[in-house]
Formats: sequence, C-alpha cells, structure tokens
Amino acid sequence: MTSPVGIDALGTYIPEYALDLADLASVRGVPVAKINVGLGAFEMAVAPPWEDTVSMGANAALRLIEAGVVDPDEIGLLLVGTETGVDHAKPVAIFLHELLGLRSGCRVVELKHACYAGTAGMMLATSWIRSGAARGRKALIVASDIARYDLESSAEFTQGAGAVAMVISERPRLLTLAPESGVFAGNVWDFWRPLERREALVDGKFSVDCYLDALEGALADWRANGGSEDDLLESMAALCFHTPFPKMAVKAHARLVEHEYTRLGHDMEALQAAVAASLERHTEPTLAAARRIGNTYTASVYLCLGWLAEHAAADLAGETIGLFSYGSGCCAEFFTGTFGSESAVMARQVGLAQQLEDRERLTVEEYEAFARAKTIDPPMDVAGIHLAAIEDNKRIYVRPEHRRLAAAGR
Ligand code: HMG
Repeated sequence: MTSPVGIDALGTYIPEYALDLADLASVRGVPVAKINVGLGAFEMAVAPPWEDTVSMGANAALRLIEAGVVDPDEIGLLLVGTETGVDHAKPVAIFLHELLGLRSGCRVVELKHACYAGTAGMMLATSWIRSGAARGRKALIVASDIARYDLESSAEFTQGAGAVAMVISERPRLLTLAPESGVFAGNVWDFWRPLERREALVDGKFSVDCYLDALEGALADWRANGGSEDDLLESMAALCFHTPFPKMAVKAHARLVEHEYTRLGHDMEALQAAVAASLERHTEPTLAAARRIGNTYTASVYLCLGWLAEHAAADLAGETIGLFSYGSGCCAEFFTGTFGSESAVMARQVGLAQQLEDRERLTVEEYEAFARAKTIDPPMDVAGIHLAAIEDNKRIYVRPEHRRLAAAGR
C-alpha cells in the first residue's frame, strides 16, 4: 500500500496595505451595494512597489521555514505558479531558491496557466512523490500573484494580492489529497495579458460563464476518473472554490448543487432551498479572507483553504472537502482532500487572521499613487523580504535579518 500524499503545511502572505472598497466605490461613483452585495467584496489587499510576486511568495514560504515545520534541505522540488512573474526568462522560483536558502540539488521551475498554475504545481508534486522519484524529499509549491486591472475599469474592484506556500509530502499533516481528480481544459479568450501589458484584459461576463462551464466539466471528469458517486453535499464537509470575487464562489456553489440535483434526479423544486442551506454549511466558511483580500489568482483557492483550516480544522478532523481551481484560458481541476488528527496544529502556521488584523488602510489617493509608481522606494523599516532596487535590469531583493542581496548572477 502506498503512503498518503498531500499538503503537510500551508503558510500565507498578504501585503500590509488594504483599500476599503466602499471608499473606492464612492470615488468611482459606483453604488457600494454593487460591490458589497453584488460582488461580495469589502476590501482588497494592495501591494506597494517594493512587493512583488517574488517577495510575497518568499515571505509565505519563510513563515513555514522559520516555524520549523520544514527544513530547506528536505526540499527537492520547488514549483512556483504565477501569472504575474517578474521576468520573461528568469523564473520567480530561482529567486525564492536563494532567498529561502534551498539546496542546489533541487529542481526549480515557474509554471504558468493563469490562476490554475499553483494547482498544476501541486498535482505535479503529488505525482513526483507517488512515483517514488522524490525518494523521501518534499516539494515546496508557491502560488503568488498581484491581480491588476486598469484603474476605473469595472474589474478594478476585483484586484488583490497575496501568496500561499505549501509543503507537499508523504504522510501529510494538514490535508491528505485523494488520487482522483477531474480536469477540464479548452481554449477561450475570457482573460489574458499580452506580454507588454501590466494590467490584465478581460471579457468579464464571458469569464464567469467559462468558469461555471469548466466546473461542470471538471466534475464530470472527476467522476469518470473514479470520483465517488455519492452526493457531494453529503460526502463533502466544505467546498473551496477559486474566488476571484466572493460572489463567483457563490455562483459556483449554486452550479455544483444544481449539477448534483440533476445527476441524482432530485426534486428541482427543492433546489433553491438546498443551495441556500448548503452555501452556509459548505462554502461561506471559506470566504471571509477573500472578502478582505480580493483576487490573488493562483493563490486564491488556497487562501480559502488556509482560512478554513485556520478556523475549522479542529472540527473537520476526519472530514473530506472538495476544491475547485480555475485558470482562465482555460484549465480547471476538481479534487478532494481529508483533514487529519494533526491538521489543527498545522493550521496554526497559516497566519491569515493575524495578517488581516495588522494591515494599514490606504486612501484611494495612496492606492492610486502605488498603482502609478515608477520607482520602488522601500521605507527603511520594511520587516519582510522585499524588492530593494532594480540595477542594470537585475532585481535585487533583501531578506532583512540576513541583509542578504539576491540579484541575478550575483
Ligand atoms: P460589472 O459589469 O462590474 O458588474 O462586472 P455586473 O453588472 O455584472 O454586476 C455584478 C453583480 O452586482 C451582479 O450580480 C449585479 O446584479 C449586482 P449577479 O447578477 O451576477 O448576481 N449589482 C448590484 N447588487 C446590489 N446593489 C446594486 C447592484 N448593481 C449591480 N446596486 C465582473 C463584474 C465580475 C464581470 C467584473 O468585475 C470583472 O470583469 N472582473 C474580472 C473578471 C473576473 O473576475 N471573472 C471571474 C471568472 S474568471 C476567473 O475567475 C479567472 C481569473 O481569476 C483570472 C485567472 O484565471 O487568471 C479572473
């Protein structure tokens, strides 16, 4: 019998600045209810110019290393999923490799498929471990992104920033992943970002339809691949969805319930009541952080998982949850995981609640100044890993307690 494989530890990082979306709505002349009720969003995390995909991802992973839940020498595979990388050739992962002090005998790659790439990394890592090629080593999977749309566009309210780092191993202490998963892929133009652009382009309403179609496709593929025929509402204790804005997860939840009702031939008259009741039980408990952080692209579904674990892992020991990851373009995956007896202890490393508590609130003017900034100018007292300068087109990062510079080729 093979060992269980899954997420041994999960650490998060969100920038220390936040914008109240009611303030933004008031300046943009949009009804606040459209944002708070229509999108389900209340605040968004804002990355200052000295934070990027590298620094956020490194800070998320450093949380786990400093807590002693993983030793850098144990890591044999580092995969970073992101769609907001910092260089067309040099991967975010190689900066993390140096900043985190990983060994040279470690495979290091950046993966891209919109918001799906973190999940792609996780699935590749589980295969690496299950195949035996890992030989006892662990994988570090980092999902890190800054969601940027044009100022004054309707998508502006669905920005955000953050990162998640996950240690994937045999005998995982946080969440054991089931081997079955269901994938859906198809070429659609719902969201994209040409190489020369910093802000994404999006066909917003079409993207919502693409997401929901991909969910149905992934569920069907999951069952074709051996996923349980049981009613998901009974067999799953919670559902974590990719959450570009919280109302999207609510729509996804409704589609999943409808999918199950249709498949099982349930009374459609009872559908709406079942959607409302199961939303409170399965999906609402995963959404509180997303309501205050916004879209984090590759990290989004794992921030929902992190929040759920931080707040409910003790109650969920022995319970199975469903996870749905969607990346525009598109590729999506549905899979499941089970919490164990050590999950509540491991969930103490997530760190989301404290970071949300410690944030500083920006005015709309300050947020716009960050968005338009052409220089980095980090303050002297930045506590975490951050971008210090760009010299000769080389990005220089500082890990403050080491005062160590990480620049290309140094
Ligand atoms: P919009 O044009 O601002 O808003 O676009 P809307 O007119 O669609 O309204 C939004 C909701 O607010 C609607 O609710 C309205 O009824 C409601 P719904 O009918 O959908 O339930 N509303 C109100 N509610 C209360 N009081 C009011 C009021 N007015 C309206 N006064 C949109 C919204 C999400 C399309 C836009 O923000 C956008 O384009 N965002 C970016 C795209 C996106 O997030 N797509 C999600 C699916 S694709 C995905 O998840 C992948 C992605 O993460 C990227 C990746 O994979 O890399 C984006």
